[in-house]
Amino acid sequence: MFTDFKNTIDFFIRNKTKFSRKNFVEKDKNLIERNIRENDYYRDVLEQFFKKNLKQNLKILDIGSKNWFYAKGEFDFFNSFSSNFLLKGVELDAHRLYSNFYSRYEVAKYHIKNLKNVEYLADNLLNIEEKFDYITWFLPFITLKPLVFWGLPKKFFKPEKMLLHAYNLLSKNGQMLIINQGEKEAQIQKELLEKLGIKFLELGKIESEFFEYKNERFGFLIKQK
Ligand SMILES: C[S@@+](CC[C@H](N)C(=O)[O-])C[C@H]1O[C@@H](n2cnc3c(N)ncnc32)[C@H](O)[C@@H]1O
Repeated sequence: MFTDFKNTIDFFIRNKTKFSRKNFVEKDKNLIERNIRENDYYRDVLEQFFKKNLKQNLKILDIGSKNWFYAKGEFDFFNSFSSNFLLKGVELDAHRLYSNFYSRYEVAKYHIKNLKNVEYLADNLLNIEEKFDYITWFLPFITLKPLVFWGLPKKFFKPEKMLLHAYNLLSKNGQMLIINQGEKEAQIQKELLEKLGIKFLELGKIESEFFEYKNERFGFLIKQK
């Protein structure tokens, strides 16, 4: 109860003030090296599961991008077969501050700086209305605890509504990849998909030679007819 009140006030203030230091640049060699491997991981995961769509003007949405530390991995995957695409990342809590007083927004600007046709949107997924050929959704909040732990007000916990909304954003033949953390969350994700009558392919445990996360990840592929 108190935590939700605190999260609600904090969220309101950071979205009103949008306070941040400007022009973030990562200087820590270890973090830069880790980021390269994580981008390789994200690229590899898309490579493993997405079917390449050769149509012109592809539109792609990444949901819950945080500081979009993996934007280059996603960019590299789509750039490997498309010469003309627009990649958007949407993040509800874009103005959340790190202890160094840079916001996720500023850090995301650094990660997408040299990537053409890539946009980071500080917005709620539920406000997005366009259609997309691809949607990527890494680690959605499908239980309340992590959402609260990450500092979001409880009113944003709407897993069913969000999933249905995301599904409806897919264009004809569109593909959506959802990656969950841990077997328990994957089971909840599966039940949500079943409850909403959304057809899916269960991908099981996600593995990549490029990076290994401490918590196992599981995936689902959804295709729009
Ligand atoms: C667990 S994090 C995942 C971050 C990132 N995708 C990754 O792979 O590490 C979930 C993110 O979803 C964001 N989020 C939650 N609800 C959202 C909404 N309605 N619209 C956009 N982003 C949302 C959260 O703020 C958080 O940054």
